[in-house]
Amino acid sequence: MEFNNFLKKQLNGIKDKNLYRKRYILPADIIDFSSNDYLGLKDNPETKEKLCKKIKNLALGSGASTLISGYTETQKQLEEELAKFKETESCLVVGSGYLANTGLIQAITSEKDIIFSDELNHASIIDGIRLSKAKRVIYKHNDLNDLEDKLKREQTTGFRFIITDGVFSMEGDIVPFDHLKTLADRYNAVIIVDDAHATGVIGEGKGTVFHFGLKPDENIIQMGTLSKAIGSYGAFICGSRTLIDYLINRMRTQIFSTALSPVQNFISLSNLKILQKEPFRREKILKLSEYLYRQAKEKGINLTYYGTPILTLIVGEEKKALYIRDKLLKRKLFVQAIRPPTVPQGTSRLRITISYKHTENDINYLVNSLKEILENYDG
Ligand SMILES: Cc1ncc(COP(=O)(O)O)c(C=O)c1O
Repeated sequence: MEFNNFLKKQLNGIKDKNLYRKRYILPADIIDFSSNDYLGLKDNPETKEKLCKKIKNLALGSGASTLISGYTETQKQLEEELAKFKETESCLVVGSGYLANTGLIQAITSEKDIIFSDELNHASIIDGIRLSKAKRVIYKHNDLNDLEDKLKREQTTGFRFIITDGVFSMEGDIVPFDHLKTLADRYNAVIIVDDAHATGVIGEGKGTVFHFGLKPDENIIQMGTLSKAIGSYGAFICGSRTLIDYLINRMRTQIFSTALSPVQNFISLSNLKILQKEPFRREKILKLSEYLYRQAKEKGINLTYYGTPILTLIVGEEKKALYIRDKLLKRKLFVQAIRPPTVPQGTSRLRITISYKHTENDINYLVNSLKEILENYDG
């Protein structure tokens, strides 16, 4: 009783600060500008048809973790295809991006090591660092001068790791990976790059390393998700054969967690192949993203835009972000209001994502609606 009252009070505090969150089931007729289904693959008819034909021969669950008896032919095939796609020796598929980051960071770091982490990295990276015994050093967002100062200052007898999002999930900007790699080589650091939002989108769809014309090497660990542009569920870590072998033996979130279902792996593999053979999907979203930026600018709305399908309207106050979201919803447009702790205090925003399913008309409707709503907002 007392505990429930405590929770109620906490919730009231969250509501008072305009930070209360609830889940939405979006009606079919709404235009969703918040999904990470960038390439429109989450209900791809080709994959659905293939799955219908195959389903009788697929187990619905994996039944155990991979080290017990849950490793399946579908996971093996998916790992091989991902390693080829990411041009690495090997790949490990795991349950989700959250499990990938938390498990990876904890598994490969020790108390002698130092982790250098961008201040705007995803929560799963932050939590992975919390689970690690290594020293944590935060550098300013995409600020390589600050990173270099810290690399110079922090001495260790262990290893150095630099961890960064490839495309930042709530900003949409891209890490300057070429310069980061130069720094990493100079200071003998291993890079972990989280390509959750880069996979399928930049570098011809292959992610951040390729966007900068670089090639993977054994000091780059590429992590990515299967749940965003690939339109399925799960995640992967690509790197050297030795790294993957080590993770199979030491990464707690994959050792002590049931393997993905063969059905899910089948969907991931099919969509990954479509992503590679249909580059027009990626080309369309990049064009539409620029179109949105220009249309908004013409109407006096300044969106942040960095050449990716994540654009933001930073409004600062939570109340204003909620007001805009709710008014858009009434017009059958969904743009989620992103508030702390997902983004820093004072930077609440509307995060707009572009999908292959959108049209120029959808974007015109969004921009016109935003203009009217902003004009009518009186604080
Ligand atoms: C940058 C980044 N990393 C990791 C994740 C976690 O991935 P998952 O949703 O598969 O747990 C997300 C989003 O969910 C993300 O945006």
